Amino acid sequence: MARVRRSRVPRVWRWVIGVTLGGLTIGLGFFGWAAWAWFTITVDTTGQVDFDQPVAIPPLAQSRVVDGERTFDLTAQTGTSNFGRGDTPTWGINGDYLAPTLRATRGEQVRMRVRNDLPETTSMHWHGMHLPAQMDGGPHQPIAPGDTWEPYWTIDQSAATLWYHPHPHGDTAEHIYRGVAGMFILDDPAEDSLDLPDRYGVDDIPLIVQDKKFNTDGTLNENHSTFQSAGVTGDTVLVNGTVDPYLAVSTERVRLRLLNASNTRPYNFAFADNRDFDMIASDGGLLAEPLPVNHIQLSPGERAEIIVRMEPGERVVLRSGPSDSGARMAGGADRLDIIELRAAPSLTPAPDLPEKLMDQPRLDPADASKFRSFDLSGFSINGQGMDMNRIDHTVTLGDTEIWEVTNVDGGSHNFHVHDVQFRVLDINGHPPPPQLEGQKDTIWIRPQETVRLIMRFTDYTSTSAPYMFHCHTLRHEDLDMMGQFLVVEPTWDGNLPDAFTVGPATTDDRLPGLSNHQH
Ligand code: C2O
Ligand code: CU
Ligand code: CU
Repeated sequence: MARVRRSRVPRVWRWVIGVTLGGLTIGLGFFGWAAWAWFTITVDTTGQVDFDQPVAIPPLAQSRVVDGERTFDLTAQTGTSNFGRGDTPTWGINGDYLAPTLRATRGEQVRMRVRNDLPETTSMHWHGMHLPAQMDGGPHQPIAPGDTWEPYWTIDQSAATLWYHPHPHGDTAEHIYRGVAGMFILDDPAEDSLDLPDRYGVDDIPLIVQDKKFNTDGTLNENHSTFQSAGVTGDTVLVNGTVDPYLAVSTERVRLRLLNASNTRPYNFAFADNRDFDMIASDGGLLAEPLPVNHIQLSPGERAEIIVRMEPGERVVLRSGPSDSGARMAGGADRLDIIELRAAPSLTPAPDLPEKLMDQPRLDPADASKFRSFDLSGFSINGQGMDMNRIDHTVTLGDTEIWEVTNVDGGSHNFHVHDVQFRVLDINGHPPPPQLEGQKDTIWIRPQETVRLIMRFTDYTSTSAPYMFHCHTLRHEDLDMMGQFLVVEPTWDGNLPDAFTVGPATTDDRLPGLSNHQH
């Protein structure tokens, strides 16, 4: 009987070839999918936005002065919003979406009564604020559903556009995306003496810029595509929660307080006619003098104040163009129409801009007593993810330090430090551009770029409550791209507690040594 000869290829090789061909097919498929994602991810809405809705102006938060403290009541709650797609479930503070604008003056004592009526634990962080770590509202100060957290501190920094938002460990992106975020405007008598537009909602306008993705049923789509490691980007821009927004301008000059409150996306703002405008402030307050520019780039968490000059009757669109970040999958190649400015047929005259604004204190690198370096890569900083029970750095009160931060992997990273406003010493060894010369708390870091920041830590110490530093690309932050530092007394003995979880400060549970007032 003839033997049936099967293939001469040994069985193991047949297996190897099969797996290789299969792998190649899958690999090519994946490559094709990735390439398709790369080419189709960009969004261009220029010329396609109707601008038929007056932009909402967040109300100023009500407050009352009790025992010398300006007290605000804030309730995080669920709600329903209309973004032109039926009912969209959203979250907000004292309302359905976003939050009232907080406003306080340098020297004032403030107290926040933050109630959590959300179905999940959250927290409330005062981004850009110099304050005790126990009051900072980071991951160590969670607020359980039904609880009220009551931090208090004294405003002790220059006039600035800050903001506030949740910071619960691992859930910050979702909570902000669903709508919990607001502006926190600080006033300062030194700023009041300058003749700047300052009538809130008239010639001094907050612009909270966010991009959203919607499901067909009108709900917010929180899912990012497989290739968007930085998180979700959207094709719909909301300004103060308004879709298709326009701003009616009634004065010759209008001051816009721009906040990038998006999860991921960097914006590169410019006007459609490429006009010049004046930048007057960065994250931490006024620049030394008005800076004429025609575009301004803001990564998530960054702010800028600009003054725009308008002619009677004209209309001009504020747009966002591609950023110089290379963050294509994070929306860095997109073109978006943001808001239309519509000037009335006759405009109230506005005085010329002051030539000088504010000389903020400079820090001398020669005074720096400590140098630290931070490599941003993947979802980690210096190769480590956030550990709530690990202190990464201990800073001595009163010290000036230089922090060198590098975007090692080319991902979509920025860097935010709690408690302080820093100055940019240099970027890749070169002096920073004038937009980055003022006080900052968040800075975009381009691929392979190294920035050196100088900062000084004053006033508040604790060996149990840390401050955070992190990437403000919210998905990265939630995936533990964050670290912690303590600010300690020069006499500190080096002992640390076993755990750093500091519960909420409530009226009954006073944190010792922080306040000299009692109710
Ligand atoms: Cu805007 Cu640590 O936050
Ligand atoms: Cu912050
Ligand atoms: Cu990052």
